[in-house]
Amino acid sequence: MHTPLIAGNWKMNKAIEEAVNLVREMRPGLNEVPGVDKVLCPPFTALAAVKELLEPTTIKLGAQNMYWEEKGAYTGEISPLMLKDLCQYVILGHSEQRQYFGETDDRVNKKIKAALAHSLIPIVCVGENLAQNEAGQTEAVVGGQVRGCLAGLSAEQVRGLIIAYEPLWAIGTGRPATGVGANAVIGQTIRGTIGDLYDKATAQTVRVQYGGSVNPKNVAEFMSQVEIDGALVGGASLKAADFVEIVRISAQVKEASS
Ligand code: 13P
Repeated sequence: MHTPLIAGNWKMNKAIEEAVNLVREMRPGLNEVPGVDKVLCPPFTALAAVKELLEPTTIKLGAQNMYWEEKGAYTGEISPLMLKDLCQYVILGHSEQRQYFGETDDRVNKKIKAALAHSLIPIVCVGENLAQNEAGQTEAVVGGQVRGCLAGLSAEQVRGLIIAYEPLWAIGTGRPATGVGANAVIGQTIRGTIGDLYDKATAQTVRVQYGGSVNPKNVAEFMSQVEIDGALVGGASLKAADFVEIVRISAQVKEASS
């Protein structure tokens, strides 16, 4: 039984003052929910301000991306050294980075290794697009992403990762996967691939989230699935009441099924 992890990916939203206001609004509600790991992932520019607000709480902080080099002539990039004193988690390989900014499994692999070397916990995103889904390629695509992203990692390193299954057709569309469908991809393809690459214990230990149009109304359907250990929430994490409700429901569902 894993501690569920609910992360809010704010994407490219919220200037510093807006971020501070949003955190102030959700902080009391989030802080009082036990038994769930809670992570906020604001944009880089708001990390320092949000860090201060989260210090007296149980809520953790994550970044949305990172480059793998520690420092140097990489204009516009952010390094693991810059993040490690600010936050505990980092989202890597998000489909929007893959889609719009040329992110690849090979680059994600380098970033995962760099994050782990600096004690940052990667949230590694994988997922198929609509055409791939309709062509029956989900297993090949997602399995390939898992293999590519995890290349060269030890079993121990993999056990410390978070993987997020985010089918592209479900992101920001209001058309989430079904709980049963996401559970099958996570159990068979994601844990199945990790089991092939490593061993069964490693496949069972890694925490896997579902992401894509998660909201307070549907989160219970995902959290009641045995293979799903949490959610990576986009749009609904920008609304304080909705995100607190998602975390609260997740805690209740996991508590009831334990
Ligand atoms: P939505 O919850 O807005 O669909 O976004 C999901 C996502 O991409 C989280 O990383």
